[in-house]
Amino acid sequence: MKAVYLKKFGTPDEAFEIRETAKPEPKPVQLLIKVQSFGLNFADVLARKGLYPETPDRPCIIGYEVVGTVEKQGSEVPGNMVGKRVVAMTRFGGYAEFVATDYRAAAVLPADYPAEKAVALATQYTTAYVCAQESMNLYPGDRVLVHAGAGGVGIALIQMTLAKGCEVFATAGSQEKVDFLRKLGVQHPVNYRKEDYGEAIRKILGPNRLDATFNSLSGKSVPKDMKLLGSGGKLVIFGAASRVGKSGGIFSSLAMLLQTGFVSPISLIMRSKSVIGINILKLSDYKPQLVAACLKEVVKQAEAGKLDPVVGGHYSIDRLNEAHSALENRGTIGKLSVSW
Ligand SMILES: NC(=O)c1ccc[n+]([C@@H]2O[C@H](COP(=O)([O-])OP(=O)(O)OC[C@H]3O[C@@H](n4cnc5c(N)ncnc54)[C@H](OP(=O)(O)O)[C@@H]3O)[C@@H](O)[C@H]2O)c1
Repeated sequence: MKAVYLKKFGTPDEAFEIRETAKPEPKPVQLLIKVQSFGLNFADVLARKGLYPETPDRPCIIGYEVVGTVEKQGSEVPGNMVGKRVVAMTRFGGYAEFVATDYRAAAVLPADYPAEKAVALATQYTTAYVCAQESMNLYPGDRVLVHAGAGGVGIALIQMTLAKGCEVFATAGSQEKVDFLRKLGVQHPVNYRKEDYGEAIRKILGPNRLDATFNSLSGKSVPKDMKLLGSGGKLVIFGAASRVGKSGGIFSSLAMLLQTGFVSPISLIMRSKSVIGINILKLSDYKPQLVAACLKEVVKQAEAGKLDPVVGGHYSIDRLNEAHSALENRGTIGKLSVSW
């Protein structure tokens, strides 16, 4: 089979190479999937740049999700999955023609559900579901802030919080993205390049405060978000995009850590606020049944039309590098995927 190997850290041209390799053999609890399309995640950009600690040793095949058909199943997989069309989370290995993954990380898809939308349901919608539905209760009228609102996870969070009747604030880095957010139904889109998002949101809030913020940036935005939250407010932190694009190696990482700040649990009691960290990989290890249930739920809601992933671009394999650069350069709205 063909697979895209990450051979070194750097630009897509330097980092990726398509090689011939052996098809994986599924373990007893795994499915072997013939891949139709694989999804791109911002974490893939971090992995390519050497900024993602979980990346396997190089050369390796990265990739968190695929849509495809089950070709073979391990001896402990319940029922007959062979021939079924699935969307599946992969613990790396997704950038390949075949991948083996735990059967609990897969959900059956209707034959006519588009692959370029389905790939978004795995890592991005499942992460959003864990952030906004599993980790907290949101109520109609709650005020929430979604950072990087026009991105893959951002759109998923916006659709989920709007469906709960929340008043949604979202940040984005261009006028095009702000216009897109307004069309999506966001009541208060903010272009953080034009104005300080903290001041802009405080002006709109008046005497009120936010009930939740969904933060994929870390760095300076964290203390800023904490100030925007009222009592009972929750900061859900699940990414560190602000680290990208800065040179300086370990010193940049340290600077980001210091800017993010350190929160004492006692101060959380005093202010009745919460900080919730989400890492879908860790949850997949320790609570695979929880992640499986969340994936199945988002697939069900997408089939019912309650969630609707936005396609940011569907590329053929020979344009993978172009897709990676677009994601890194913040030029994308919605989900990117690649087909063999
Ligand atoms: N913890 C978890 O389990 C988990 C799972 C999935 C994703 N994530 C995280 O969630 C975030 C969103 O992931 P995604 O795959 O949906 O990506 P994405 O949102 O489609 O793309 C990233 C977006 O982040 C914004 N951004 C802010 N600072 C940036 C910077 N310094 N460099 C590049 N982009 C920057 C850009 O939007 P603007 O132009 O609007 O700024 C960009 O479009 C990422 O940080 C990712 O690591 C975490």
